[in-house]
Amino acid sequence: MDQYDVVIIGGGPGGYNGAIRAGQLGLKVACVEKRETLGGTCLNVGCIPSKALLHASELYDSARKDFAGLGIDVAPILNLPVMMKSKADSVGQLTKGIEFLFKKNKVDWIKGDGRLAGPGKVEVTDASGAVTVLEAKAIVIATGSRPAPLLGVTVDQDRIVDSTGVLVLSAVPESLIVIGAGVIGLELGSVWRRLGAKVTVVEYLDRITPGIDTETAKTLQRSLTRQGMTFKLGAKVTGATLTAKGVELSVEPVAGGPAETLTADRVLLAIGRQPVTDGLGLETVGLTTDQRGFIHTDHLRTAADGVWAIGDVTPGPMLAHKAEDEAVACIELIAGKAGHVNYDLIPGVIYTFPEVATVGKTEEELKAAGVAYKVGKFPFTANSRAKVNHEGDGFVKVLADAKTDRILGVHMIGPDVSEMIGEYCVAMEFSASSEDVARTCHPHPTRSEALRQAAMGVEGWTMQS
Ligand code: FAD
Ligand code: NAI
Repeated sequence: MDQYDVVIIGGGPGGYNGAIRAGQLGLKVACVEKRETLGGTCLNVGCIPSKALLHASELYDSARKDFAGLGIDVAPILNLPVMMKSKADSVGQLTKGIEFLFKKNKVDWIKGDGRLAGPGKVEVTDASGAVTVLEAKAIVIATGSRPAPLLGVTVDQDRIVDSTGVLVLSAVPESLIVIGAGVIGLELGSVWRRLGAKVTVVEYLDRITPGIDTETAKTLQRSLTRQGMTFKLGAKVTGATLTAKGVELSVEPVAGGPAETLTADRVLLAIGRQPVTDGLGLETVGLTTDQRGFIHTDHLRTAADGVWAIGDVTPGPMLAHKAEDEAVACIELIAGKAGHVNYDLIPGVIYTFPEVATVGKTEEELKAAGVAYKVGKFPFTANSRAKVNHEGDGFVKVLADAKTDRILGVHMIGPDVSEMIGEYCVAMEFSASSEDVARTCHPHPTRSEALRQAAMGVEGWTMQS
C-alpha cells in the first residue's frame, strides 16, 4: 500500500493547486485524476477553451463590424477548424504545464477513478480495471462539478449540447437556442452569435444573470440585445424533440399562458452545474451530502476525520479562483499553518462584450441587510481611453458604507473590466475607503481612470464632462 501525507481526488483548479502547494510544503502528495489530462473542467472544457473562443470570435466580429470605421478595410473569412485548433493548442500547452509543475513539486499523478475506501484509504481503479489502494493521513475531495440535466431535454452532444459540446461544434449553426441566461449561456451564446448564428436565450427568471447587481444585468442585456441576441425571459422549457432539421423546443410562460414551439439547428443547455459526489464511497467514512449533492465543510474540514473538501463540490460560487484559494488554504491547514479564504471578496466575471466584473455586496444585498451606503458611478462614455477605442458601453459603480466610507461592493460593466476588478479586490482586502482609491493617482489615458472616478463619485467630486 502506498503511503502519503495527502491524497487529493480530482486534478482541477482545486486538486492541482492543492497538490502543488502540498509539494512546496514538503508533504508527500498524490493527486488522483481520471481524465487523460490534468486541469479539470477549467483547463479542459471550461474557463480556458471558452475564453480562447471568446477572444477569437470577438476579433472576427470586430474585424467585420468595427475595422472599416477605423480606416481598415478587410473582409474577414471565418476558418473555424483553425480557430478550434488554436483553442486546442492553448489547452494542450496549459494542461502539459500542470504536468510539468507536478513533476517539479514531486506530486504523484495517479491516473484512474478514485473513491474513499474507509478512513485514511483511497482506492484507485485505472483504465485497465487494476485497483491500487493509497493510504493517506489527509484526504482532500476535489471532484468538481458537471452540467445539470433538464427533464425532457436530452443532451446528445450533437443537436442538443452542453457546455462541453458547444466548445467543439464543427460548423456555425444557423440558429442556436440557449436554455439559461447565466454565465455559460451568455458567454458561449456570444461566441456563436459573433460567428454568425441567430441566438435566442430562454430564461426561467424574469431577468438575466441572477445574483449579479440588477442595474449591471439590465445594461448587459441591453447591450447583448443590440448585438443581435434575443431574450425570452420568464419562460420554461418543458421538452425537446429532434427533427430532421434540428430541434423543436416546447416553451411555456412561467406565469402561465399558452405554450409555444421554438425551433433551432442546435440547443445549448446551460442551467447550472451540480457537484460530482456520486460513487465516491463517502459512506465508507460516514459522510453524507446535502440534497443537491454538495459536501458541507467547516474551514474546509468535512464531518469525517481527516477528510477535507474544496472547490465546486462544496457550496458557494463555482469558480476556478474560489477552488484555488480553498486548495491553498486547505493544504496550509493540513500542514499546521494558518490557511484562510476571504469569502466576502471572491470576484466574479462574465466574459461577454462588454465584460461584467463584480466583487463584494450588491445594492440589493445591502438594502436587504439594512446597511446605509453611498454610491459613486462613472460611465465609460466619459472615459477618454474608452472613447478613442469606441467602446463607450458601461460603467463602474462603487458602493461605500455611508458612515465609515469603507468600500462594500464594486460592480463594473465595460471593456476589459475583468483585468481591472483585481485593483478593487486588493483595496477591499486592505479595508480601503472610497477616498483611498479616489486619492490614488491612476495613469492617463487609461480605462482604469474610471475606477478612480467612480470612487471620487462617492463624495460627489467626479470630473465628468
Ligand atoms: P473541476 O475543475 O471540475 O475538476 C475536478 C476533476 O476531478 C475533474 O478533472 C474530474 O475528471 C476529476 N474527478 C472527478 N471525480 C473523480 C474521481 N472519482 N476520481 C478521479 N478523478 C475524478 N470559472 C472561473 O473562475 N472562470 C471562468 O472563466 C470559468 N469559465 C467556465 C466556463 C465553462 C464552460 C465551465 C463549464 C466552467 C467555467 N468555470 C469558470 C468554472 C470552473 O471551471 C470551475 O469552477 C472549476 O473548474 C472548479 O474546479 P474544481 O477543481 O473544483 O473541479
Ligand atoms: P448559472 O447558474 O450561471 O445560470 C443558469 C441560468 O439558468 C440561471 O439564470 C437560471 O435561472 C436558469 N435556469 C435554470 N433552470 C432553467 C430552466 N429550466 N429553464 C430556463 N432557465 C433555467 O449556470 P451556468 O451558466 O450553467 O454556469 C454554471 C457555473 O459555471 C456557474 O456557477 C458559474 O459560476 C460557472 N462559470 C463561470 C464562468 C465565469 O466565471 N466567467 C463562465 C462559465 C461558467
